[in-house]
Amino acid sequence: MRSYRIAAIPGDGIGKEVVAAGLRVLAVCAARDGGFDLKVQHFDWGSDYYKANGTMMPEDGTEQLKAFNAIYFGAVGAPDVPDHLTLWGLRLAICQPFDQYANVRPTRILPGIESPLRGVTPSDLDWVIVRENSEGEYAGQGGRSHRGLPEEVATEVSIFTRAGVTRIMRFAFEMARSRPRKLLTVVTKSNAQRHGMVLWDDIAREVAADFPDVAWDKMLVDAMTVRMTLNPRSLDTIVATNLHADILSDLAAALAGSIGIAPTANLNPERNFPSMFEPIHGSAFDITGKGIANPVGTFWSAVMMLEHLGEPAAAARLMRAIERVTADASLHTPDLGGTATTARVTEAVCAALLGDN
Ligand code: NAI
Ligand code: MG
Repeated sequence: MRSYRIAAIPGDGIGKEVVAAGLRVLAVCAARDGGFDLKVQHFDWGSDYYKANGTMMPEDGTEQLKAFNAIYFGAVGAPDVPDHLTLWGLRLAICQPFDQYANVRPTRILPGIESPLRGVTPSDLDWVIVRENSEGEYAGQGGRSHRGLPEEVATEVSIFTRAGVTRIMRFAFEMARSRPRKLLTVVTKSNAQRHGMVLWDDIAREVAADFPDVAWDKMLVDAMTVRMTLNPRSLDTIVATNLHADILSDLAAALAGSIGIAPTANLNPERNFPSMFEPIHGSAFDITGKGIANPVGTFWSAVMMLEHLGEPAAAARLMRAIERVTADASLHTPDLGGTATTARVTEAVCAALLGDN
């Protein structure tokens, strides 16, 4: 029997609720498949750990994680801890040393779910956003001087390296090539940002020469929001910087029905380190503890994890189960306009898995 070691890091807020739901579904999925098992180890890192220990995870945290085949992550963020400490202390503290430079964010309108865009059907919106996940605007370069004084200054420096841009561009062209439409849109802001973004454009052109079978075009990020909203059908695979894709993927999730549905994979494509799978949403203080968080984004992230682990049959079965459940409006959580609870959706997906042939 094939066996995989999974590090589960629920983190904060609804992260704890949706990861618990995801692990339940994954256990049923593995049992139903019969060909593999998942050895899950829990890590109670996050804001509670921070309040007790002064750090979001132990100093040797990434060392502990190295032994795992994948990381299943919830969300970080607590109302009483500054967001930049929680994000940099846990999520980015894993993404960066593990060189998870390719952040993959599929967006589709699942069966039974309505886009807020009038007249837009599932066949009109089927995208994969590839987000550069190691440098750019979130490289962590910068600082603050003269704190509190009138002359206080802060810098937030974007870093774009030829190596970093080339590898994400190649990844994005490969992704576009693997999809039926073979269509890539490269998003920048190279009119106003005339150094790093122009480097993106130059490298896109260079890499494109190696992919003559992929059609590609360029968009400025502001105009991209208009195109996503008014002409979603014209898009397929999208590549953008760390900040731009962060913003565009929240928009994409909303256009596909809810941020609660959207999954992501933080990949180290060379597999030198474990990759990390998580819903794109945050810890959602406003609904924490109410039992109504939509777990679908976390389930879909589990699908991506199973694909990465090399279990495509189980991944496809879990995706079918998710889609069978979203198709039934009585199983929609409040973010989708329904009244179902996290627990009800979870049990329905488990039942659909067991009923799948
Ligand atoms: P958020 O994604 O937590 O919530 C935005 C809105 O979407 C809220 O109204 C929330 O109730 C709703 N929502 C999110 N996930 C949902 C789900 N699964 N089901 C139903 N509704 C859902 O973003 P927000 O409010 O900006 O941030 C809250 C905290 O999360 C902050 O501390 C922030 O830094 C952190 N955060 C962490 C992320 C991560 O760990 N990857 C990503 C985004 C935010
Ligand atoms: Mg985000």
